[in-house]
Amino acid sequence: MALSEDTDDILDSAPFGIEPQTPTIGAFITGLDLSQEQPQDVIDALRAALVEWKVIFFRDQPLSEEQHIAFARRFGELEVHPVTPKDQENQEILRITHDENSKGAENNWHSDVTWRPIPSMGSILRAVEIPAVGSDTLWANMEAAYDGLPDDIKELATGLEAEHNFLRAFASRVPAERHAEMAEKYPLQYHPVIRTHPESNRKSIYVNVGFVDRIMGMEEDKSRALLDFLQSTAKRPEYQVRLKWQPGTIAFWDNRSSQHYATSDYFPHRRVMERVTVCGDRPYYKAD
Ligand code: SIN
Repeated sequence: MALSEDTDDILDSAPFGIEPQTPTIGAFITGLDLSQEQPQDVIDALRAALVEWKVIFFRDQPLSEEQHIAFARRFGELEVHPVTPKDQENQEILRITHDENSKGAENNWHSDVTWRPIPSMGSILRAVEIPAVGSDTLWANMEAAYDGLPDDIKELATGLEAEHNFLRAFASRVPAERHAEMAEKYPLQYHPVIRTHPESNRKSIYVNVGFVDRIMGMEEDKSRALLDFLQSTAKRPEYQVRLKWQPGTIAFWDNRSSQHYATSDYFPHRRVMERVTVCGDRPYYKAD
């Protein structure tokens, strides 16, 4: 289903190919060389495709770090992740490396940096080194997940806020003696459990296993039960798309309407990914 007549028009006349991978989430974009500066009409159409398909894929894009950053910058300001080493040359690149010394740890459903007051609009992940088999990433369409909720759960969840916690995911990567400092630097954040997409006006489930501890204003057991129910929707295959990576594949996803899960099935083999993350806006809920 398309977003609006305007979006339909932009996508119908898009200056590239669009190959959907499921009815509602995930599409390959063909016919673009992202190492080259793209005209504004291509960027506008990519943005429309991103909002429509939640995650768009590109094959065979051997970009330098600078080209990766330049492409991402066309969609907004870029963020620097707190775990990026301070001496790394391109601070906007988040390098995610796993090998025999480090097992893949991104195997939980989440959208990126929801522990920030203003979480990310989108993430652009490029495969640098990929094991011979395995290490697929899955994305779930959290708008479809919202649409599929029973009416009484929609009613219960609407208007509530959830607590998002940086240390829930990153405590193991920061020495224990720095936890208090990190908690001060990245304080708990409160975002709507159901959010409205600022471009499409669609609603989605905005709580994730990676960063969310509890729903505010509810007893602990009720908060846990509602969180478990809402978060489990991402696991439904009907809402998912799954990507098999190759070196040079890029996935660009919308953090406002999707969650992702990186399969950790390739230990002790090596997998190197580089992510550039585009800033977004403060999540909100707006009634129809
Ligand atoms: C991420 O969770 O941002 C990384 C996903 C992946 O490595 O496939």
